[in-house]
Amino acid sequence: MKYGTPPRQKPTPLMNLISALAPASVTGADFQVSAPGRVNLIGEHTDYNQGWVLPIAIERGIQMHVRRRSDRLALLRSQSQKESVRVDLASPIHPGLIPWGRYAEGVLSEYLKLGWKIPGFEADITADLPAGGGLSSSAALEIATATAIEALCQRTLPAVDRALLCQRAEQEFAGVPCGIMDQFAITFARTDQALLLDCNSQQMTHVELNSASLAILVVNSGVKHALADGEYAKRRAECAAAASWLEVASLRDVSSSLWQTKGSSLPELLQSRVKHVVSENERTLRFVAALKNSDWEGAGRLMYASHESLAADYQVSCPELDTLVELARRIPGVYGCRMTGGGFGGCVVALIEKSQSEAAMEEFEQRYKKATSIAPALFLTRAAAGPEVSPLR
Ligand code: GLA
Repeated sequence: MKYGTPPRQKPTPLMNLISALAPASVTGADFQVSAPGRVNLIGEHTDYNQGWVLPIAIERGIQMHVRRRSDRLALLRSQSQKESVRVDLASPIHPGLIPWGRYAEGVLSEYLKLGWKIPGFEADITADLPAGGGLSSSAALEIATATAIEALCQRTLPAVDRALLCQRAEQEFAGVPCGIMDQFAITFARTDQALLLDCNSQQMTHVELNSASLAILVVNSGVKHALADGEYAKRRAECAAAASWLEVASLRDVSSSLWQTKGSSLPELLQSRVKHVVSENERTLRFVAALKNSDWEGAGRLMYASHESLAADYQVSCPELDTLVELARRIPGVYGCRMTGGGFGGCVVALIEKSQSEAAMEEFEQRYKKATSIAPALFLTRAAAGPEVSPLR
């Protein structure tokens, strides 16, 4: 997208919703930016192992109303957190004290490091994505910030470079050694299409997801996940250790013959981690084939298998996510269900028969509440488009 002549886009329903909620302080904004969250259909904890992932962007996200300033200060206000972040754009930037602010500070810092002169601006941030819900509110904020910076500077980075810049920002400023999935999922999202991303070659294939009979349901367990608390980094380190033991560049390169000859020499814990990654890569490619054949039941079975592998071998699930998946198996119209994102809380994603979606949502709500006393937030979504900029004057 070129920002020299800002596109005159029709606001999406998401924008309308958030605009309606936007507080009075945003009046006088020059433009608005929106960036969606994402949900990963399958291919979990494979991105940093150079494997395959299949995310979609969702119809919920983050929106910024941006107003230029005549000085070199960036003021970012979060409407939900009731906090502001103040950044001096004329000096090197360091991670601040407000956790969500670090994602934006990291992105600003990376553009400054590239030599960009970012003018001062104010941004009011609204979101209809739960923070810590595993729907990539962090990557949405990074991409929204990057998109706003490019609109302010009236120049753009190549999209892959922008996504990688945002990943670096998250790694360096938020301390999460994340892979490339979230930033690519949001940047390259297309309506009614999932993104098959080969995280090794960065080759992308969009996969049609536009069936009249299929719906995608996201159910939030209500348990907040935190990737910075060390478990995510631990899994990454275990995979790196297993790859070096097996003398491959990454777990992507573990062939079945290598696994048969050398697998059993690995310590047991690492064997389980490799088993998950290798099988999840296979499942992701089989899932794409199932979607192409409209084989929803086959796709659903792969989702359940993915969840089992993440829970038993990769150990990134939690009792509430397991409960949701177990409930799903007994709800009519659900083809498959699995935890999505980093894990340890957050959401599950389910493929369901569209004609039964309302009844299925009610069942999820009632049964989960009965089992855990937590009222789950849940919503249906289509695969949505990526970030957008709309001028406001
Ligand atoms: C988080 C990370 C991603 C990916 C997923 C797990 O969302 O940000 O890079 O590793 O966890 O698939």
